[in-house]
Amino acid sequence: MTALTAGTTTQDVEPVSVAQAVAARYGVPATEADAVAPGVADALAALAARTADSGERAASALDVQLAHRSVRAFLPDALPYHVLPTLVAAAQSAPSSSNLQLWSVVAVTDAARKDRIATVAGNQEHVREAPLLLVFVADTARAGVLGGDVELEGAQYLESTLVGAVDAALAAQNAVVAAEALGLGTVYLGAVRNDVEAVAAELGLPPGAVPVVGLVVGHPDPARPARVKPRLPQSAVLHHDTYDLAGQIPALAAYEERITSFYRAEGLEGGWSARVVERLRGHGSLRGRERLRAAFTALGLASR
Ligand SMILES: Cc1cc2nc3c(=O)[nH]c(=O)nc-3n(C[C@H](O)[C@H](O)[C@H](O)COP(=O)(O)O)c2cc1C
Repeated sequence: MTALTAGTTTQDVEPVSVAQAVAARYGVPATEADAVAPGVADALAALAARTADSGERAASALDVQLAHRSVRAFLPDALPYHVLPTLVAAAQSAPSSSNLQLWSVVAVTDAARKDRIATVAGNQEHVREAPLLLVFVADTARAGVLGGDVELEGAQYLESTLVGAVDAALAAQNAVVAAEALGLGTVYLGAVRNDVEAVAAELGLPPGAVPVVGLVVGHPDPARPARVKPRLPQSAVLHHDTYDLAGQIPALAAYEERITSFYRAEGLEGGWSARVVERLRGHGSLRGRERLRAAFTALGLASR
């Protein structure tokens, strides 16, 4: 295993190296960073080797973020051992509301279990194809353990559900950026919410823990590459000091044209506005998610 550049110690030092940052995160000396986040060093070494081989400059976080595209076509190849702990270290490095860390992640690699979750998720084939599915969970169960006999009534409010869901989403997005930095592909799987109770049972989640979103991770199939998908012009989403709805109209029209030709090139008919309206006009397209509050309540997160 490649040694991380070891600095001195754990806390009270401004981390200057990745080893020191990892060490500070997990509370060990920098010399032991490898042990607490096994593989981060190797992941960085693999990255450095890749850029050295190709002669490219190393991608910055911004390069990775701006080149994002969801990948839905994967090779069956297993992931190197360092990937999972590196993605989790990145996920755990995300901010967390009041540092409550009301989230967990379940790494699913068992083919039969992935297959059953794929079925819940509308038979999305890439879940079966990719070697790893991460399911991010809003998790008050751990806090319940901390409370012992104390009833955590506050956990039953929508605020706590949102705290857990936002924490889980931030963690997941950090994992996305980390995976893409390592040359891997990902796609979110909101469809785990088609039947959160079935997915919770599949993952053995305790009461108070609910699946929020899945993340499929694997090696992108170069024969079926994904493209960067156009987004709205900034003039539609960025407001200065106060919100302007009417001012967005020209930007929406311009986007409609651009995204429609993107979809056409992908073999998809129709535009974006129709998709948005179709998705939101009734609950028919929610595929089971319309009963999410009842399902969350059954799983111990009443969200009142
Ligand atoms: C919370 C969330 C849930 C998503 N769920 C799914 C999903 O179940 N299946 C899927 O193929 N893509 C899913 N996506 C990916 C989006 O469709 C994708 O991000 C969007 O079309 C923009 O494309 P891009 O990521 O390639 O830029 C999800 C994305 C997010 C953020």
